[in-house]
Amino acid sequence: MLKILTIVLVIFVVMACESPQEELPGPIHIVPIPLEMTVDKGYFQVGGNTVIHTVGADLGPVPGYVKEYFDGLTGKDLTIQYGESISKGYIKLELAGAVEGKEAYEISSSRKGVSVKASTAHGLFYGLQTIKQLVQQDSKGNYVIPAVMIKDAPRFGYRGMHLDVGRHFYPVDFIKKYIDLIALHKMNTFHWHLTEDQGWRIEIKKYPKLTEIGAYRKETVVGHASNSKAYDGIPYGGFYTQQQVKEIVKYAGDRFITVLPEIEMPGHSQAVLAAYPEFACKPGPYEVATTWGVMKDVLCPTEETFSFLQDVLTEVMALFPSEYIHIGADECPKDRWKESQYAQDLVKREGLKDEHELQSYFVRRIEKFLNANDRKLVGWDEILEGGLSPNATVMSWRGEKGGIEAAKQGHEVIMSPTTYCYFDYYQADPETEELSIGGFLPVEKVYGYEPIPAELDTDQAKYILGGQGNVWTEYMKTSKRVEYMALPRMSALAEVLWSPGDKKDYNHFVERMGSFRKHLDAMEVNYARHIFQD
Ligand code: ACM
Repeated sequence: MLKILTIVLVIFVVMACESPQEELPGPIHIVPIPLEMTVDKGYFQVGGNTVIHTVGADLGPVPGYVKEYFDGLTGKDLTIQYGESISKGYIKLELAGAVEGKEAYEISSSRKGVSVKASTAHGLFYGLQTIKQLVQQDSKGNYVIPAVMIKDAPRFGYRGMHLDVGRHFYPVDFIKKYIDLIALHKMNTFHWHLTEDQGWRIEIKKYPKLTEIGAYRKETVVGHASNSKAYDGIPYGGFYTQQQVKEIVKYAGDRFITVLPEIEMPGHSQAVLAAYPEFACKPGPYEVATTWGVMKDVLCPTEETFSFLQDVLTEVMALFPSEYIHIGADECPKDRWKESQYAQDLVKREGLKDEHELQSYFVRRIEKFLNANDRKLVGWDEILEGGLSPNATVMSWRGEKGGIEAAKQGHEVIMSPTTYCYFDYYQADPETEELSIGGFLPVEKVYGYEPIPAELDTDQAKYILGGQGNVWTEYMKTSKRVEYMALPRMSALAEVLWSPGDKKDYNHFVERMGSFRKHLDAMEVNYARHIFQD
């Protein structure tokens, strides 16, 4: 009897080893939700003998990332094998022209292994981001990847996150973490807002005072700028050297993220005037701003100012490979131009109607310079006032109106309306939150955003390149605060921009975020908890 029992037990153990349990340890939760996914029975178990098999000539850094990730999970030094295929125990990365779209990818996994296909390394990189979310740990501590078929591709080509480093300055390591978060969400653009009234943050070799003077303010307003006259008396500042900028651009590029630099003009330039008062319409002196808001002292549209800006942009273009360069152009009060004889003479000489047309003249000149250097201009929607430059892309922030108008005029548009995309707004009752700029934008509202306005017909809608979340940092002194304000609203926007509109389901998103947050936890991200039951 004991013998029979032993045999039965041995058979049982052998069976258990040979055919892994079909039951998955947990649900399959992916953010942003893929275009198509079907789930099969069983899973692939990752082990020390798993081989990373690559097919194709230029997979860039992706095999290295896959190895790093799975080495980390298994504690082993997994082999990367080029060429000859493997019948079992593989994670295969394959460049396959048949997968349409440069960001698209396909995953098929079974008990034998996992195969990722894409036409570019960029697509394979997104395949890896999905695999990280597919991996589950069973009760014995094994890592398993469910058997699935996924076909995925983004809805929009531009999926961006912005960060204002002018109001507050964040270290290089945090900028890299922000880029990692962008990558995790399959977003592809980091809009780096580098200059502000309160601080110029990028080294420009030809104009050293921009950072010697313009990167530092003597103190900062305490409380809400709209009703406070109190200042902290603490000098504040910092800037990124060109070497650091190169390092960040490379870091982003290695994660298939374009860094879109923004150099503000003609407004939001008080830090420039503190360093070089000769670019103002009135003699200075000026100081780097110490409170928040829209400042009246702006760049004067003189030839000297244009030469200065061209020199600055020349250095910027050498640092940033981005096809687009953002020149701000928002919130430029016209008071100084109205008072300036030079500006008024220029209005007459150029046959302009008013100061709004003067701003258009300003932007057009900069656009001509950028276009001559094979770059395209992006500006906030104020560039519509006084007439749009011929090739400009409009970033629509004061609602969707500017974006609608620009698309109707046949211009490219990036949607970033305050109503859905301003992550500096409160995300819960202000009574329970730290001081913020104002507004109210909970996660669910971000999730409900539809970037194509109903007013546009199919042809016009093609001009909507995508959308972006903006993180203005007047009230975000620390990088931990930035994380709290950006997440999980960024996750909601990532799904808006990546996934098909008809796949959206807020409750399901929240449920999936219950799993996704583990990735944020692993990165030690201080995300806001409102949507979770804790
Ligand atoms: C902006 O929020 N001033 C673009």
